[in-house]
Amino acid sequence: MEKVNLKIKNLKKEIVNIFTKYGLSNNHALVSANALINAELVGAYGHGLSRLKMYCDRISKKLINPKPKIKIKKISQSISHIDADNSIGFIAADIAIKKAIQNAKETGVGLVAVKNSGHYGLSGYYAEQAVKKNLITMIYTNAPPAVAPHGALKSLFGTNPICFGSPTGSKIPFILDTSISMINRGKIRVAARNNQKIPEGVALDRFGKPTINAKKALQGVQLPIAGFRGSGLAWMVDILSGVLTGGNHAGRVKDPFDDFTGPQNIGHLFITFKTNLFVKNYNTRIKDNIRKIKRLPRIKGVKEIMYPGQNKFKRFKINSKKQIKISNITKKDLEILKQ
Ligand SMILES: NC(=O)c1ccc[n+]([C@@H]2O[C@H](COP(=O)([O-])OP(=O)(O)OC[C@H]3O[C@@H](n4cnc5c(N)ncnc54)[C@H](O)[C@@H]3O)[C@@H](O)[C@H]2O)c1
Repeated sequence: MEKVNLKIKNLKKEIVNIFTKYGLSNNHALVSANALINAELVGAYGHGLSRLKMYCDRISKKLINPKPKIKIKKISQSISHIDADNSIGFIAADIAIKKAIQNAKETGVGLVAVKNSGHYGLSGYYAEQAVKKNLITMIYTNAPPAVAPHGALKSLFGTNPICFGSPTGSKIPFILDTSISMINRGKIRVAARNNQKIPEGVALDRFGKPTINAKKALQGVQLPIAGFRGSGLAWMVDILSGVLTGGNHAGRVKDPFDDFTGPQNIGHLFITFKTNLFVKNYNTRIKDNIRKIKRLPRIKGVKEIMYPGQNKFKRFKINSKKQIKISNITKKDLEILKQ
């Protein structure tokens, strides 16, 4: 796949211009551009610029509302319910995490549910915001059908990421942010666009046969992590982010790329809480916890035992100093969207 180098600053300007051309306010365009660029910088290419055209197509077809009237209903000092009015998911999530942080700072715990939202990218991006404010956080979102429930012949669950973030007493946060599928769907989409193979053991074709062909995998089913355990976790996320919030659930979230019959109405749940609710010395305790684990004897070939989030933090730091590399196909998307 041929790649093109682009300066981060210029690229951000281009994305902001495109989103404002499609009707987003300057602020919403900037929030969305920052989220897309962050995805590129942490190496989550399936959630970065490869999705820009999809968001714009959905705005054109009036399935994403570029000027949403977002309502925040206060249920208690800790709890809020947000109706995102079919905003682009980045905006709903940005407002929700800020509210969850505020609620937790005021009361110790923040619980914010979101309905009528769309694809918001990386859960970890929002978790980082809470951890920077010295809060623990758990974040859930559902997604369009991709994974078959254990024992079923048809995809119904999304790749429904599970995200947990915690301060570590150091500048690198603990962010466990993982799809419940063997690999995330964005990676398969990128592989399909670029005619690349996918790893063995992550998907079946539509006849139920194992496949390494990305296009066939998109027509078939993705496999969950750890068999019925992964299927159970996906179900849990569907309940927490869909059933509980008022969002779509049980396979009704529409695929943003292929299904233009209505808005996605994705649901998200943001939980935040203070680290000192039960102990006064959380930072000392978590430092001790991480130190103990990192000092364990290592398997041959492993240089360092890392905690979740460390790899992405390192990648972000390295990539922030370089230009962003995008594929020729994505570059073409940018050229068309700019016109
Ligand atoms: N919005 C959506 O609908 C949606 C759906 C699925 C996934 N996503 C996002 O896609 C992103 C990628 O998901 P993924 O499942 O491909 O993540 P991944 O497999 O790259 O990483 C999963 C987790 O494992 C950790 N990790 C990786 N290597 C490690 C190592 N060697 N030691 C210790 N920890 C390690 C990572 O830090 C991360 O927390 C996530 O940010 C997720 O939120 C979004």
